[in-house]
Amino acid sequence: MPYQSLLSPIHQFLHCETPAAWLAEAQKPENLSLLLIDHANAEWKAAASASKLMLKYAGQDNRLLQQEIKHLLAPYEFIIFRAGKLSLETFCAWFFADGLAKATTEQWALANSAFALTKRCKLEPKLIEQIECEVLAYAPSATQSHSSTSAIVQQKNQQGSVFNQQLLEKMRLLIKEELHHFEQVFAIMAKFSVTYHNVTAGNYAKGLISQVRHFEPEALIDKLIIGAYIEARSCERFAKLAPLLPVEISQFYSSLLRSEARHYQDYLQLAAQLCPAPQMDVRVKEIGKVEAKLISNEEPLFRFHSGVPCLATN
Ligand SMILES: [Fe+2]
Ligand SMILES: [Fe+2]
Repeated sequence: MPYQSLLSPIHQFLHCETPAAWLAEAQKPENLSLLLIDHANAEWKAAASASKLMLKYAGQDNRLLQQEIKHLLAPYEFIIFRAGKLSLETFCAWFFADGLAKATTEQWALANSAFALTKRCKLEPKLIEQIECEVLAYAPSATQSHSSTSAIVQQKNQQGSVFNQQLLEKMRLLIKEELHHFEQVFAIMAKFSVTYHNVTAGNYAKGLISQVRHFEPEALIDKLIIGAYIEARSCERFAKLAPLLPVEISQFYSSLLRSEARHYQDYLQLAAQLCPAPQMDVRVKEIGKVEAKLISNEEPLFRFHSGVPCLATN
């Protein structure tokens, strides 16, 4: 097996394998669009959760970091939260709440990034043309460059604790990779004529988050361990799905294994810095049992991280 060395620690970490019944459902051609759409959602949620961790634990008084995250996520938020309603009106309402005449430099920068993303994701060609002609044609010549903000944030963060520095470093890379994966899923969706739309969430993430303790640093330790399980499960599922799906998707899923395996290690290493080894082992096992139960239990909705399918999908 080509990825054996990468996958064997993941198989040891997870308490169960993905059930054959879930794989049988996932390879049905009629479920391909749902699989891809929910995969895109999973990539987005991975980036959004990492952003929340960064902001809550290392960025509360760091306005530049808050700005950096806002600039990274805002274009994707438009596509996700306005899915099915993408139009010139929703674009203007989302980015220019007070109208074009009063638009700030930051609003122009965010709108520009969202326009570029809409183009990269090959969404709504008519909308792309409208934004270009009816909005961006009126943009002031100099809009704020985001890269300079990012450099300042990085300099400023060098003053934090070792843990905070590592949290920022690892999460910053993870967010960028997950957003890139999100775009790659959109490219695959375009090839298979799948249109992104909103789907309700399954039980998996909610079930895991319900395990988070309500005091610190235990809450943070739990969130990091949960992050590791989600990444490990994604990796395990990509590897199992790859041979079952059309060749382009199969190659794409194989290409994701390395980064998802690194994300799982990154989360675990961060948690280990906050928690002595014996307690860490206990907590990893406790959360692992819950994760395995969510994967092994029957679940009516078919989703990327759902349990054993028990009803017709929707
Ligand atoms: Fe990813
Ligand atoms: Fe990941």
